[in-house]
Amino acid sequence: MNLEMEKKGRMVASERILVVDDEESMREFLTIVLGKEGYTVRMVENGRKALDILEQESFSLLITDLRMPEMTGLELVEVARRRYPQLAVIVITAFASLESAIEALRLGAADYIMKPFQVGEIKLVIAKVFEQLDLRRENQSLRERLEQNQSSPLIVGKSPQMQRVMDLVKRIAPSDATILVTGESGTGKELIVQAIHRHSLRHQNSFVTVNCGAFPDSLLESELFGHVKGSFTGAVRDKEGLFKVASKGTLFLDEIAEMSSSLQVKLLRALQEREILPIGATKPIKVDVRVIAATNADIEKKQKSGEFRSDLYYRLAVIPVHLAPLRERREDIPELVHHFLERACKRNGLPDRKISPEAMKLVLAYPWPGNVRELENTIERAVILSESDTVMPEALPGKIHSSVSSSFQWNLSQDTMTLEEVEKDYLLQVLEETGWQKKRASEILGIDPSTIYRKLQRYGIEPPSKT
Ligand SMILES: Nc1ncnc2c1ncn2[C@@H]1O[C@H](COP(=O)(O)OP(=O)(O)OP(=O)(O)O)[C@@H](O)[C@H]1O
Ligand SMILES: [Mg+2]
Repeated sequence: MNLEMEKKGRMVASERILVVDDEESMREFLTIVLGKEGYTVRMVENGRKALDILEQESFSLLITDLRMPEMTGLELVEVARRRYPQLAVIVITAFASLESAIEALRLGAADYIMKPFQVGEIKLVIAKVFEQLDLRRENQSLRERLEQNQSSPLIVGKSPQMQRVMDLVKRIAPSDATILVTGESGTGKELIVQAIHRHSLRHQNSFVTVNCGAFPDSLLESELFGHVKGSFTGAVRDKEGLFKVASKGTLFLDEIAEMSSSLQVKLLRALQEREILPIGATKPIKVDVRVIAATNADIEKKQKSGEFRSDLYYRLAVIPVHLAPLRERREDIPELVHHFLERACKRNGLPDRKISPEAMKLVLAYPWPGNVRELENTIERAVILSESDTVMPEALPGKIHSSVSSSFQWNLSQDTMTLEEVEKDYLLQVLEETGWQKKRASEILGIDPSTIYRKLQRYGIEPPSKT
């Protein structure tokens, strides 16, 4: 009991409340009442000031009057809830504007209180809101812990190419070496970068991602290195760069090939000196981050042609990790399909679905220009479209059907193989792709495992010896 009260007391003291009311007497009243309860209270007289102070300090609760000049309480609620989804809001309203209070609830306010009110009433409403807030925080930290513990996203793939990548990840993760991850779009670069961070000694510190292609040059510089108040129009306060935010953690520079050459110079300097110079600052600051970069461009070519600085390229690519396109490691496809099927069903609250052998054949033959991402989206869509518990070819998009049938026609016109030769060839291809798992192969081919045995014998095919 004692402990419980102590815990509560500590929690209350750390809760910060912002009160917004144009009436001075109301502000004073609330400050006194809430201060006595142990909350830390700040008060302002209008919505604009409230938004300013919210930008600079953090609060767990906003209490606002609805009817105010300039910016109405409703407008404030809308903006504040959008910008700070964690912030709880209580509105104060007169009976005459009950409708606005309901509107405020719709905009995400937790509760409202009607004027005139008793001290006890407001205390009760606030206590209730904080109780909900505590519950939400508890759930969130539980969720975060769960996510950290068990559900690190699964990286699927038994192909020699993926196995090599996974071995490399395990070996290089604990070092602080800079890493460059390359590969076509959708091959899993981000997934691999996250895995490296998770297996690193920095895994308990932050993982910060910057998409270098998403910002114009000047903005990217201030994002990465920060700026000093007044260093350019719009720099109304000091801003910490992401190099600093990622302190002791990992900074992931995605789409690195998009970076301008003047920024490339600054990045190189930051990597070499382990310090950064915020825009407008006179003294560099030390930083401790591990940098991992990724790109789907042919950065080696860009480096050779001078589009990307060679010195930065070699600095980043201390350890290069390359992800092969999916069409070059088709044996990963069946496992990926099963993985995405299972996940899509779970996500959509559907019972487990299978894939028909015919549909699997199409999926195996299609070249997947969008790589694993395209496969993932295709399976998710197919699951939603399928009415039975099996994904049939009809649930696959037209491009897969047409691409596969055109390559089949192409084969026919090219080849003068007998039907038997075609069958033997196809059987071998599927066996290769499944790593000679006859059960998996029989699923894909839509025949019985015993038929596979018979055919192998007839064609005199020996499985490769296990090494
Ligand atoms: N080996 C894999 N196992 C499981 N899921 C994978 C695998 N590879 C990729 N994915 C999934 O495919 C999707 C695309 O992967 P990711 O975002 O990592 O690609 P990317 O290479 O970063 O692409 P882009 O260059 O377009 O940014 C993600 O949802 C990812 O979880
Ligand atoms: Mg990516």
